[in-house]
Amino acid sequence: MTRQAIVAANWKMNGDSALVDTMVSGLADIKLSSHVDVVICPSFPYLSELNQKIKAAKLNEAIHVGSQNVSEHESGAFTGEISTAMLKDLAINYVIVGHSERRSIYKETSTQVAKKVHAALNAGLTPILCIGESEAERATGETETVLSAQIQPVIDDIGIDKFIDVVIAYEPVWAIGTGKTASSAMAQETHQFIRQFLAQQNELVSDKVPLLYGGSVNAANCEELFAQTDIDGGLIGGASLKAEQFKIICSAAKGK
Ligand code: PGA
Repeated sequence: MTRQAIVAANWKMNGDSALVDTMVSGLADIKLSSHVDVVICPSFPYLSELNQKIKAAKLNEAIHVGSQNVSEHESGAFTGEISTAMLKDLAINYVIVGHSERRSIYKETSTQVAKKVHAALNAGLTPILCIGESEAERATGETETVLSAQIQPVIDDIGIDKFIDVVIAYEPVWAIGTGKTASSAMAQETHQFIRQFLAQQNELVSDKVPLLYGGSVNAANCEELFAQTDIDGGLIGGASLKAEQFKIICSAAKGK
């Protein structure tokens, strides 16, 4: 069995229609290994435009569009929120959930993140669940405790069997947007811990779930990171805004 590799672009609150066009034309001749999916996550206003332009340009069918967030609620009086049904209506199939900026700036708790994963799976969306420790937590040796405490509420909510349809993105908070990437050895060690944590509850799930690394991944360091046994691709912020760099990163991913 080959585990799928995924390279996801997180544009955050950046980009515009011009970037949509640049990215679509920039990815026209992309070469991807088999068992690789690419997911581009622009801000809400560009989801539909990007999706339609990708289809109109007949880009590689492994290139998908994802949302950066979704509400845990089905519908109703939640001003400013977006539902899973709306994403499905726009033919979006992936959603980033629990990014560290959502957790730290918008105070999303692991329980709320678990509800979002649940809502996404119920709607047939693939959630990309973000987890990661802060610099202080790593320094005090709490990394594994923090990561377990971020994953377990999701398992408690959806059940370990359904976790087979979840993607995890491990993003050490201190490596996001800072240019300070975790060394490939440190990233591998942490990914191995995450896989073992899942294996204790279900080995099949642990073999199948793609574990992405995120935090200052770029065209120069992606190859070494993606070569690690338990790293199945990446969640890319800054470098995903440049089509040339992003293309190199996508081409470095391989299913394992
Ligand atoms: P970065 O962001 O690649 O700019 O560090 C990654 C992320 O936040 O997903």
